Amino acid sequence: PPGAERFIPDDSHSLDDLKRAAPGCHGCELYENATQVVFGRGDAHAQIVMVGEQPGDIEDQRGLPFVGPAGHLLRRAVDEAGIDPATLYITNAVKHFRFELRGTRRIHQTPDQQHIVACRPWLVSEFALLRPRVVVVLGATAAKALLGPAFRVTRQRGQVLPWPESAQHPDDFRVAPIEGGVEVPPGKLVATIHPSAVLRADDRDTAFNGLVDDLKVVAAAAR
Ligand code: URA
Ligand code: SF4
Repeated sequence: PPGAERFIPDDSHSLDDLKRAAPGCHGCELYENATQVVFGRGDAHAQIVMVGEQPGDIEDQRGLPFVGPAGHLLRRAVDEAGIDPATLYITNAVKHFRFELRGTRRIHQTPDQQHIVACRPWLVSEFALLRPRVVVVLGATAAKALLGPAFRVTRQRGQVLPWPESAQHPDDFRVAPIEGGVEVPPGKLVATIHPSAVLRADDRDTAFNGLVDDLKVVAAAAR
């Protein structure tokens, strides 16, 4: 099943249209073992869109993105950066939970490039409908989805970047068939570390403050 594109209805007019179609996606094999698809959520007029990696264990069970430990940390960082959480939309580069069973435990597995590419039409469709001012790339997986494999979050975090060229060329960055052929509008993009990386850091406070600093750049860029 190569890619999500054929599961996105041509007559999608709204995020709800996309969300209704997403449970039918068999664009890669990850739907087979996950509990459910976890689509983006938030303000349909959001000027800031945050992109994570994939749902975690708790998100997979609840069907909502960023409702586990990483989500709690992200919410705290958003508050500290002075961003109104009601003006956000939060989603993931990959919409099914990828894991490995060890006994009864489900251990997170990073999605492969093939999963990222397969799932990207959903993400691009979300952007096409939201037309955000700023996209926040949370960690390496989202960066691979949007900026390509050569991008290094550690080196380029916290900078306001233009939409990558690739995001504006449907050949490289397949634009899903939204009615009217809407392409991803040019906007700004800021990359930062993933909140899970803050949770894993030796010095959590410093890592957290770094995330907040990057989100302050986002807040300023969205004004
Ligand atoms: N990590 C992510 O990248 N996304 C979620 O939804 C939860 C944890
Ligand atoms: Fe479709 Fe994405 Fe789920 Fe793969 S991970 S089945 S492409 S929604």
